[in-house]
Amino acid sequence: MNPLKHVAIIMDGNGRWGLKYKNSRNSGHKAGLNTVEKIIKETIKNKINFLTLFAFSTENWKRPKKEVNYLFNLLENFLINRIEDLHKQNIKLKILGSKKFSSKLNKLLNNAEKKTSKNTKLQINLALNYGSKSELINAFKKIKKNKNNINEKNLSKNLQTKNIPDPDLLIRTGNTKRLSNFLLWQLAYSEIFFEKKLWPSFNEKDYNKIITEYKNIKRNFGKI
Ligand code: IPE
Ligand code: IPE
Ligand code: MG
Repeated sequence: MNPLKHVAIIMDGNGRWGLKYKNSRNSGHKAGLNTVEKIIKETIKNKINFLTLFAFSTENWKRPKKEVNYLFNLLENFLINRIEDLHKQNIKLKILGSKKFSSKLNKLLNNAEKKTSKNTKLQINLALNYGSKSELINAFKKIKKNKNNINEKNLSKNLQTKNIPDPDLLIRTGNTKRLSNFLLWQLAYSEIFFEKKLWPSFNEKDYNKIITEYKNIKRNFGKI
């Protein structure tokens, strides 16, 4: 059975779900938050140490302002209402991506990271305004500036995911088979599951089914 330390998820399909069931994309984002809560619980039950959630890409700024504002509003409320409980559950929150949001949201994110920084049960990495290409470019720039050698170890050390093991498992919901600029370096050897269900319809059972399947895969890492 394969160990499972780190699950990464591209939470896709909110907009389509919202349009299909409630006639608005934004209600899909709201419903998607319930799935986030379910999956966090189940991740803890499965004793997984790291959960990385792709919530907003550097490319998602191209969406209508109304949708972008709704998403960040949802996030603000989530932080205000849920951070205390997450902290009590010994969960550490880390943001991947550059924090270029409103001063209110930046503050909420910084406070949440600071408050939970010593927690040890589960680390949730929330990828927000995250893009893998810009993360890689910044890593190379830092290596160059410090006159270090370009090698795998130094590159990994200069990514935002330093000290985080690479994902063992990537799940993308929403019936789309692409990476959309997510963790391009870190996913080099991850097992990838593309799930047909839209994120708000994804549930604990679907998650556990994937985990069980993952655990039984023969992972080669180049060997035989
Ligand atoms: C993913 O769902 C969530 C974000 C990108 C914020 P989408 O909003 O991309 O949903 P679809 O793919 O349009 O259905
Ligand atoms: C990827 O989903 C980003 C997140 C889930 C946050 P998108 O819906 O933005 O991806 P594309 O644009 O369809 O590739
Ligand atoms: Mg999408």
